[in-house]
This record gives sequence, structure tokens and C-alpha cells, in this order.
Amino acid sequence: MCGIVGYVGHRDVVPVLLDGLTRLEYRGYDSAGVAVLCREGSLSIRREAGKLVNLKTELEADPLTGHYGIGHTRWATHGKPTTENAHPHQDSAGRIVLVHNGIIENFLDLRAGLESDGVEFVSETDTEVIVHLVASYYEGCLEEAVRRTLDDLEGIYAIVVASADEPDKLVTARQGPPLVIGVGDNENFIASDVPPVLGYTRDVIFLDDGLVAIVTPESVVVTDRQGTVVDAPPQRVDWDPVTAEKGGYEHFMLKEIFEQPTAVRDSLVGRMYRRAVEIDLGELNLDAELANSMSELLLLGCGTSWHAALVGRYWIEKLAGLPVRVDQASEFRYRDPLVAENSVACALTQSGETADTLAAMREAKGRGAKLWSICNVIGSMATRISDGVLLTQAGPEISVASTKAFTTQLACLYLMALKLGELRGRLSREAVELRLHSLSRIPGQIEEILHRADDIAAVAKRVAHFKQFLFIGRGVMYPIALEGALKLKEISYLHAHGYPAGEMKHGPIALIDEGVPVVALAPQSNLYEKTASNMQEAKARDGFIVGVATEGDAALAAFSDELLTIPDCLPEFSPLLAIVPLQLLAYYVAVELGCDVDQPRNLAKSVTVE
Ligand code: G6P
Repeated sequence: MCGIVGYVGHRDVVPVLLDGLTRLEYRGYDSAGVAVLCREGSLSIRREAGKLVNLKTELEADPLTGHYGIGHTRWATHGKPTTENAHPHQDSAGRIVLVHNGIIENFLDLRAGLESDGVEFVSETDTEVIVHLVASYYEGCLEEAVRRTLDDLEGIYAIVVASADEPDKLVTARQGPPLVIGVGDNENFIASDVPPVLGYTRDVIFLDDGLVAIVTPESVVVTDRQGTVVDAPPQRVDWDPVTAEKGGYEHFMLKEIFEQPTAVRDSLVGRMYRRAVEIDLGELNLDAELANSMSELLLLGCGTSWHAALVGRYWIEKLAGLPVRVDQASEFRYRDPLVAENSVACALTQSGETADTLAAMREAKGRGAKLWSICNVIGSMATRISDGVLLTQAGPEISVASTKAFTTQLACLYLMALKLGELRGRLSREAVELRLHSLSRIPGQIEEILHRADDIAAVAKRVAHFKQFLFIGRGVMYPIALEGALKLKEISYLHAHGYPAGEMKHGPIALIDEGVPVVALAPQSNLYEKTASNMQEAKARDGFIVGVATEGDAALAAFSDELLTIPDCLPEFSPLLAIVPLQLLAYYVAVELGCDVDQPRNLAKSVTVE
């Protein structure tokens, strides 16, 4: 995730760009840059590694002025967060300049082609290929060159391009990441999100996928990829600045729940190639030798991240045949743990700054383990002390209750399991192919669940008066029961307990009566019948049953008081789907009870002390 801005009009461009980037800093903050152009034909670029303040300081010390321009705040994917890799990128002649949000999957092929034509690359980014391609197609009409370039690209992108030879024109295009065009009076704005635009205009075009817009001070012309003009009238947005930051949602938690299809897609893209049947986890420094010499994998984390680790264990043991141990970081660090020779310890952490997780990582490393992390914040301590890192592409998570960080951790863990399985010779090419195919459908299936949010809100209304809840599941659904219960207790302060369904008879069943809803996770799997029996046992004791089932499961519908459904998928993927209705259930119960959803009492987003 990155933030991009563009401006054409009568104002001094630099303050407009910096103001916009400030409002987009939540989308990335490892480097930033602007390109400023004058009608007379000059083009200047300033870029700085680190937070936006570094760029601002540089521009204060050595100001730039101009008439139109573009800006970018980066969240690194390809290439380290250095000044050379910061955007904007320019062509070799220094006449065309571009900012990009997204990932170009075929950039290595494109780069090789351009290099054989003599183009010299100055960064490690996938983005740089786009600007060189535009330059190679440029014959005096920027939008034409951009359209031809888009035909070559595979992947996802939102771009803004300018040419010093065509004053007062920006060309922008989208395939995946969001793009908003703010329509002003003799001035126009482009941004990744609404907040940068709101201070200037409330008339906004939300550019659709596959479209290109040619933006000048006087006009916004939207076309399809062939150049045919498309009707895209502006809409009026009446959001106040706070609502705008939340993307129009009532709470950050809801916004982040709804961002999951994109966040999961972004975490997979550039790492899995369905057609080539390839998984590329380069940043992890995992090769066949390591995969085959590993004695065990230790997964460490706290809270929601620990739950992700628990899911990871099922996947990695099954797909890679590798023993996995999962520990809560706070327990591991003080247990005087045994760490076998050739172990790898992998920390799961959204923030990369959780005190217990960092201590557990150091403990594991001190005992000889190689260190990996799956983390959402580049440059955080966890990423700095790790030998290999997989960055989740969730974007900043603001709500204390973690949602999109969890599903993106799962996506990364699944890829890790597949890669280990492949390198350890446990999975055939066909087995990997089948799974990549199913995995690529998951973001769309999460979207399907989100479309039914109103139905889940209605269920929440009907259960919000209960005082305690039991969540049960087996196999990969057990950690989801734990996570569903945690979501509910964190934000609604109701007592909720997650349990393996098979343990019901060893105690929790004593709790069940008509005042205790049992949220039972029973999507289709080899354990379906067993969980269904546990549900019937609860029903026989007057428990109020909330089933979570695969769509079309009439049997479960028959004895559930409420049913939440997920689309049909390979059973091993069901955690990625089943958690979504539970997040929504917790959210709507908390709203119903009038709780402070985004900042629940006594909790903190990042627990940096013990
Ligand atoms: C806090 C947060 C949780 C999070 C946990 C671990 O308790 O409220 O949402 O799961 O810390 O955080 P981490 O950043 O290490 O994933």
C-alpha cells in the first residue's frame, strides 16, 4: 500500500502535494517524494527515505515551486526503503515522471526486455519499468503512451504520470488500488483516498478499474483502455474530515474488516504466480537446503497474532510435514525453552514492536534458532532483528481489535506452508497448482461474506443481550473459535470463551443452558460430523446455537438458531473465511451495546511494555 497524489491548477503545487501526502501517510511512510513541473518545461524531483517529515525538511531548506506535479508516500514491496527506490521515478531522458501504488508482477520480464534495448535502471523497484515503457511508447501524446504501456502490465496499479513536454496534463490509471479525482474550479486533484481532496473540493470521481483519466486544470476526461470516452460524472461527498479518514465507515474496525479482500490480495500478489505455479518468498531467505535441514519451526506471538500462529501449525505440519511448536511469546520467554538444533523461530506480529514477542525472538535467537518474522510494519524492531521477513500488506491497522492484520498473517503463513511443502518435496506441482487456484479465489470469497454484513448485523442484534458466549471448533477451526471469542470480549466486554469442540465434555458443557449461545464453527471438512454432534449435544441442553457453516448446509441450518455462512472452499482455507463473520458479529454486538469499538477500555494497539 502506498499513497499517491497529483495536482494541476493555479496554486503553488508543492504545498498542495505535501498536504495531500500528509493525509495519506497512513498508507505508507518509509520514504516519500514529489515531482514538480513548470509550464515552461522544467521538471524537478525530490525524494527522501524515511518519514514524510524528512522530505518536508528538505523542501523547506531548498524550496521548489511549480505549476503541476505528483507525489508519493511509499510502503516498500520491491526494493528496500531507500532514496533510490522512492517515487517518483523518471525515464532516462528525465522528461517523463511517474508515481505508482501496487505491484507489477511481470516486472522482471519487462525489465529484461528494456535492458536489452539499452535502458539503464537506477532502482530495484517494479515501478521503474512502467516509466521506461511509457517513454518507449511516447510519441507526443502521454495518454496514448500510457494506454500502450498498460497493455504490457500484469499486476495491480494506480499510477499518475506527467510529461515535461505536455504542460498542465496528468494521466492517471487504475487496476486494483483506489484512485480518486477531485474536481475543482480550474484545478483538479488526484489522490489514493478522499481526505487529501476534501480541503479543496467535495466533487469527486471514484475512478473505476480499467479506466484512464486525462486531467488538466480545466477538464477531466475519463476513457477506457482503448481511448473511448466513458461517462464518469463527479459525486458530491459530504463527509467530515474524520469520517473521510475512516473512508465513510463508522469505525476504523469496520473499515479494516472491509479492507480484507484488498489486504489479502495485496499480501498474495507478487508472491504467488498461478500460471507459472510458483511461490516467491524471496524476503524470507528460504531455500531448499534450509527447508530440508530445519528440525522444527517455532511460531511465536501474542493475542491475535498467536491465534494466526495456531492456524499456521495445522497448515505447515500438514503441507510440509515439518514439526511446528506454537508458543505465546510471554510464556516462551520465561520458560527456559528447549530449542533444538537447526530450528527456525518465526514471530507473528502486526506491529513488530510487542515487548513479549521481541523478547521471545531474542530468546530463540540466543538459543541458536534462525529468526523470521511475519510483520506488518517495515522497519519495526521485529523486522530489523530477523534473518528473513515476510511483510503482510495490510496497511496500517488503527482499530485496537486486529482484523486485517490477522487475515493477512494467515495468507502469508499459508504461502510459507506451501513453499516449505514444495521445497521439502511433500507437494507435487499439481497439488501446489490446485491450492494456488483456490487461494486466488479467497479475496473474492471474503467480499461475498462482506456483502452479507447486514444479515450478520441482524444476528448480532438478536444475541447482544446474552452475557456469556462459548465458541467451539475443531482442527483449523479451533484457533478461529479462540479468535472469534477474543474479538467479542475485546470490544463488547462480554465474557466469551474459545474451546476445542472435542473438549466440551471435559468441562464447558456444564455451562450450557438457554442463556449461553454456542458459536460453533462447522464448515465442510473431515471433522464436520464431529463438530455437528457437539452442536447437537449443546442444543439438547437448551443452548442457543449460532452455527458457522458452508453455504447450502441444510442439516446445520435445521438445528441452529442462527446460521452464518461462508462460501464453499478447500477445507484448509476455511479459517480465512470463517473469521470474517465472527469479526462482523463482534463488531455489531459492540455497536449494539454502545461500546467504544475502536478504543476498547484497558487495551492498547501495541503492547510495548510487559
Ligand atoms: C495487542 C493488540 C492485539 C494484538 C496483540 C499482539 O494486544 O491489542 O490486537 O494481537 O497486541 O500485537 P502484535 O502487534 O505483536 O501483533
